[in-house]
Amino acid sequence: MIILGIESSCDETSAAVVEDGRRLLSNVVNSQVDIHAAYGGVVPEVAARSHIEVINPVIRQAMQEAGVTWDDIDAIAVANAPGLVGSLLVGTLAARTLAELHDKPLYPVHHVEGHIYANFLVEQPSPSEEATLEPSSGTQPLNASSGREVRSKVASERSGDLSRGLKLPTHQPTFPMLALAVSGLHSQLVLFEDHGKYRLLGETLDDAIGEAFDKVARMLGLPYPGGPSVSAAAEHGNPRKYDFPKAKLQNPYDFSFSGLKTAVLRAIQREVGVDHTFPSFELPERLNDVQRADFAASFQYTAVKTLVDATVKATNEFQPASVVIAGGVAANQELRRQLSQQLPLPIEYAPMSLCTDNAGMIAALGYYRSQVLEPTSVDEVSVYPSMSMTQTAWNV
Ligand code: KG4
Ligand code: ZN
Repeated sequence: MIILGIESSCDETSAAVVEDGRRLLSNVVNSQVDIHAAYGGVVPEVAARSHIEVINPVIRQAMQEAGVTWDDIDAIAVANAPGLVGSLLVGTLAARTLAELHDKPLYPVHHVEGHIYANFLVEQPSPSEEATLEPSSGTQPLNASSGREVRSKVASERSGDLSRGLKLPTHQPTFPMLALAVSGLHSQLVLFEDHGKYRLLGETLDDAIGEAFDKVARMLGLPYPGGPSVSAAAEHGNPRKYDFPKAKLQNPYDFSFSGLKTAVLRAIQREVGVDHTFPSFELPERLNDVQRADFAASFQYTAVKTLVDATVKATNEFQPASVVIAGGVAANQELRRQLSQQLPLPIEYAPMSLCTDNAGMIAALGYYRSQVLEPTSVDEVSVYPSMSMTQTAWNV
């Protein structure tokens, strides 16, 4: 079964083609990072406008690179929750329109759940198979000569880099499966009994872990998005230089990162000799590169340790057959290093490009939902900007 996935919940416009929930035929991602970097974060209206400009070429390119036509597509899956409302609307409307036009079943899916399903992508066409893939008729090749900047960016960012030659996990995860979902908006530990049967063990009570990375990056004067820039700076720093507290909570599987973020701010203020009334946007210029690296490393060490301790504890208590990590923060190397060292069972990781937002994960999840659920009527597919994973239709 071949599924076209569409993702537009935040600042990445993406379309992918996946076979049987495990074989990634293409995965085109058009990132808006450069656009939002100038503002230090995602500007919702700018994000929605950019999605509109690129969504059609992104979908066309995903089908072309997979070598499929509409006749080959069995269903469409789209992330319709959670995320920025304007962003979600663009992908959802595109999916509804295409489903109606080509008479395809439509499966709305939850974005965070989708992140977890990136771990189910374990196959890709081999180079020899790719050579035999004919560009599908009916799809227009994109070319960089179209005057629009965003459009040419889609063309130049060949998804070949993203969907081909990836180091994918060798096996799909088995159930029961423990999932640590860590992104810009979520930090959750979820125990899956089977596809669509899961319970939330814990979640963040305040900031998401990715948000904490982004905010600490700003305090240190490191560029947006903060996760990759903090972890790059941390490579040169001493993780033991500053001793930051780990929040102690009643439920050992809940998280809290707001106290950690404030502790970093106070330590920076102390380090540069100012009090808490000093404007935080003026702090970065008072730090040198060594201090910046040490703050990044010490923050990352505690933030990651918090996630790892909870994951190891849950693994010991619930004895899952597999553990997976998902979401943008799952790209973090320190998290992978600590987990691999401390988990009592082997763990495989999805490649970085499948950890951050992409439609391959949405198409994979769409496949598993299609195996147990009826498609949703096109007119009923709406968007839910703040829907929790536990409210999805197949988990009730
Ligand atoms: O899943 P994602 O791409 O988008 C959301 O659904 O939120 O996650 C984005 C988040 C951002 O906060 C970003 O700073 C963080 O993931 N991130 C990282 C790394 N790469 C991305 N955090 C830590 N280390 C990284 N290497
Ligand atoms: Zn995400």
